[in-house]
Amino acid sequence: MTKYILEISYLIASVTFILGLKMLGNPASARKGNLIAAFGMGLAIIATIFLYTDESGKHLGNLGFIFGGLLIGTVLGWIAAKRVQMTAMPEMVSLFNGMGGACAMLISVIEFQHIHDALSEPIVIASFALAGSLGKITGTLITIMVGLVIGSVSFAGSMVAWGKLSGRVKDKSFGAQQVINIGLLLVILAMSAYTIVNFDIRIFYAVLAISLVYGVLFVLPIGGADMPVVISLLNSFTGVAAACGGFLYDNKVMLIGGVLVGSAGTLLTIVMCKAMNRSLLNVLIGNFGGGASGGSSSSTIQGSTKEITASDAAILMKYAKKVVIVPGYGLAVAQAQHVVHELEELLEKEGVEVKYAIHPVAGRMPGHMNVLLAESNVSYDKLVEMEEINPEFNTTDVVLVVGANDVVNPAAKTDPASPIYGMPILEVENATNVIVNKRSMKAGYAGIENELFFKPKTSMLFGDAKKALTQLVSEIKSLG
Ligand code: TAP
Repeated sequence: MTKYILEISYLIASVTFILGLKMLGNPASARKGNLIAAFGMGLAIIATIFLYTDESGKHLGNLGFIFGGLLIGTVLGWIAAKRVQMTAMPEMVSLFNGMGGACAMLISVIEFQHIHDALSEPIVIASFALAGSLGKITGTLITIMVGLVIGSVSFAGSMVAWGKLSGRVKDKSFGAQQVINIGLLLVILAMSAYTIVNFDIRIFYAVLAISLVYGVLFVLPIGGADMPVVISLLNSFTGVAAACGGFLYDNKVMLIGGVLVGSAGTLLTIVMCKAMNRSLLNVLIGNFGGGASGGSSSSTIQGSTKEITASDAAILMKYAKKVVIVPGYGLAVAQAQHVVHELEELLEKEGVEVKYAIHPVAGRMPGHMNVLLAESNVSYDKLVEMEEINPEFNTTDVVLVVGANDVVNPAAKTDPASPIYGMPILEVENATNVIVNKRSMKAGYAGIENELFFKPKTSMLFGDAKKALTQLVSEIKSLG
């Protein structure tokens, strides 16, 4: 009976994962979706702890260890999630993902050791051979090795990604890096095959060590600013490694959870690469943005920029019919989401129509701008996706770009030599006036200049976004 209740709990949990994932696709339902999936995961864990029995009818036991671990994990996770700054979110995702990889790796270590201990008795091997179970063992060993390699690469890679995003680890590339990495991968494959055939525990641990080294070397040379894409890729690796655990334990909920994480991570990686118009290979070996070329301030574009004061910008916006705000990475850095919402409400009171233009890769993580603006209670229907807002710029009086750069760079359309050429952008230059707020003329993520800042219809409102917008708000108020 308990077996059936366990299976039903797993079925319910699997349904909540799928439902939760679907609901994450919309900002309005995302929070609920997350809670539903978390409930399903809780159910699967509790059901396993209390209802699982092995062939001899024995329960899991070790409840002290299990609940001790759960308590420590819950407290640490809760505190970390509460304290994390929005801008440090990719960092935290990377750390949590690394833990998932480490779990998959440890599952493989423990299960290999179990089989090794059992099979080290020649009598047992003989009886397995007689029972025709050696084929099954080989299948199990393959699953163990796949989980081991993918889990450890994901763990080590995620730790390096976390280090890079938090500024603890610098980008490091050296000659022949790609050759060394490909060589290591081939060694891992060959040694894994050897382990499966010869069941050599020393080679097994060597595969573990080399996979960890490979994980580090794989992520180390990738441009720091490309980390969100890499984290998404590593996330999909962890999903596959967890799915291997599902096979190993014949546990359907673990298998489904792993497959969902694996496929969602893969899809997200593809969507991000597509939105940036870059191939995954370019992300992995391109050393694009971040440490490589980001932050350049030297000017190669001919022409001059025009500055605007907060009071002139306030007049322009207060008397406009329609204003579109383009949020970018700088809005997140300045934590200016609350004041931008105040500005929006103020303008609406003055009878101005206000919308936000959301580029799919604005900021540094998927949905970054949606999450940021939701934090300040901006209504979801004001957030307009790029494809829908682009035709509206023709009828927009003022575009206010706040801390965005690459996502409004016309070079993506006009300069085939540009690294962002082909990336769809927000076509803000079609509006009557463009006001750009940023602190300096420095480049954004892609490390390239932006011709938009030099266009006659563009005015620069220099300063930190929070300060500049606060000033804008008080200027509009003072206009009465
Ligand atoms: P960016 O091109 O990175 O530009 C951000 C601009 O914000 C900078 O030029 C910076 O100029 C300004 N800024 C920084 N701090 C500021 C502050 N406190 N106040 C005001 N301005 C500030 O950002 P974007 O336009 O959002 O584009 C995102 C880029 O990240 C794209 O190239 C995208 O491909 C890449 N990317 C995105 C993702 C995802 S999933 N979102 C993942 C990986 C990469 P100053 O220094 O002069 O102020």
